[in-house]
Amino acid sequence: MNPLTVVGSADSSRHVGRHCEARANRRREKIASVPIYRDHIYPRLVSSVGNPKPIRTLRRGLVPLAAGTVLEIGVGAGANLPFYDPERVTLLYALEPNPGMRRLAATEQRQVGLQVEFIDLPGERLPLEDASVDTVVSTFTLCTIANLTDALRGIKRVLKPGGRVLFLELSAAADPGVRRWQRLWEPIHHRLFEGLYLTRDIPQLLQQAGFQPQAVESVWLTPFPKSWAHCCTGTAIAGG
Ligand SMILES: C[S@@+](CC[C@H](N)C(=O)[O-])C[C@H]1O[C@@H](n2cnc3c(N)ncnc32)[C@H](O)[C@@H]1O
Repeated sequence: MNPLTVVGSADSSRHVGRHCEARANRRREKIASVPIYRDHIYPRLVSSVGNPKPIRTLRRGLVPLAAGTVLEIGVGAGANLPFYDPERVTLLYALEPNPGMRRLAATEQRQVGLQVEFIDLPGERLPLEDASVDTVVSTFTLCTIANLTDALRGIKRVLKPGGRVLFLELSAAADPGVRRWQRLWEPIHHRLFEGLYLTRDIPQLLQQAGFQPQAVESVWLTPFPKSWAHCCTGTAIAGG
């Protein structure tokens, strides 16, 4: 069966953060309505600021764990592509709604020996069959995506039982003092990086969505200020 069958948009059921998400979406749309920013400046910003050495080191530790049929959500400018192991990955679905990002990622893809299929849809509308994917990779996308609840539901649906999410995300710090600064900076990051959140508790949100987070590490991206730099990385198993 063709795994690229469009299955339609996710439902719009109620959940606790829905109101905040709607407000954040309206804020993001203001910037998204400036095509030069969305299509040119933001992709360049992500591929430069979004990929310094400490982040590359974390990518190098995480991405090679991907195996089989892989879905990367928000592939961006393709910063993870060099780290996939072509011996382990049979097919990579590279989902990215931003055309400027896809252009940069396509250039990167030509330099790596991977079979990549680009999907130009948002992560809330995964056009893949149920239980068709072995690994989902998300780096700095679960902390960006507008409707995380819908996206996680879709990820759970497309993952095979026991399939894994590999994640590296900005995330709420445990220290209340840092969290307070994260909340203060968040509106600026949110505008500059097309909806980025600093304060989502990604492991907890994965757990609430029915995944089992494993080997979660809390890391700080030096040399950035603490309130910009708290990440969590790890694995979450589907079907918890
Ligand atoms: C901070 S960038 C990270 C890019 C890349 N994953 C990386 O690690 O460099 C966030 C990415 O998520 C993408 N994105 C934003 N909203 C999305 C959505 N609803 N579904 C999928 N991707 C989305 C953006 O276009 C952008 O490429």
